[in-house]
Amino acid sequence: MEGSATLIEGSAGTGKTTLALQFIMQGVKEGEHGLIFTFEQFPEQYYDCAGELGWDLRALQAEKKIHVVFTTPEDFLDELDDPEGKIAKILAEFGTKRIVLDSITHFEKLSKDIGHLRSIETDIVNGVKREGMTAIFLKENANVLGKWDVSSNKIPFIVDTYILLRYLEMESEIKRCLMVLKMRGSDHDKDIREYKIDQGGLQVGEKFTGVSGIFLGTGIQARPARK
Ligand SMILES: Nc1ncnc2c1ncn2[C@@H]1O[C@H](COP(=O)(O)OP(=O)(O)OP(=O)(O)O)[C@@H](O)[C@H]1O
Ligand SMILES: [Mg+2]
Repeated sequence: MEGSATLIEGSAGTGKTTLALQFIMQGVKEGEHGLIFTFEQFPEQYYDCAGELGWDLRALQAEKKIHVVFTTPEDFLDELDDPEGKIAKILAEFGTKRIVLDSITHFEKLSKDIGHLRSIETDIVNGVKREGMTAIFLKENANVLGKWDVSSNKIPFIVDTYILLRYLEMESEIKRCLMVLKMRGSDHDKDIREYKIDQGGLQVGEKFTGVSGIFLGTGIQARPARK
């Protein structure tokens, strides 16, 4: 949805960056400039991971189809409100339509005060929304399996779409599942679907049928009803 903000939350390695890059690549196909802010500390590793998925970020940047900015949360915040700053210049030069923040979790080191931190996060989401771009914010969740603590998190309330990527233990196997918890203004797919990661990104497959307990990270297959 054009101009909307999406939060993708998931634990380490679930495919958050992959899904965000997929969104940027779809934009490239449609002739829309994409801007990626990453607060990861190893640019080489970031480019290599994208390369494994079949995306040459350096080449796309040289062709001015995308722009990848490695920065710190402090610098990003300084730039966000500066009409003469780097971000404003990139937006003006390329007419950016899609933006990714990988990840918003890095802002947590800016403040130990939870109230202050929530207001920083709200400012970021609102600041990006104000620019009218379609945005994806990534958020790390420390819980790999088991119950998730998402209650102290304000961002889900201010974004338009909220997607969770989760590991699921089922029959001695770790599966990955995607659920759309919220999509403003539309009756979205409520199914919990399995996905795989491959060249080209996330391939979303079938929904889990007859399985309960997915929200707890452990899927239990319901027994077939007795005849
Ligand atoms: N070509 C590929 N084929 C299959 N799996 C792949 C491929 N490329 C990457 N992966 C897998 O995708 C997963 C990583 O996805 P990604 O980096 O998007 O996760 P993430 O949620 O952003 O992780 P982090 O929290 O560490 O940033 C890894 O488990 C990796 O093994
Ligand atoms: Mg990542």
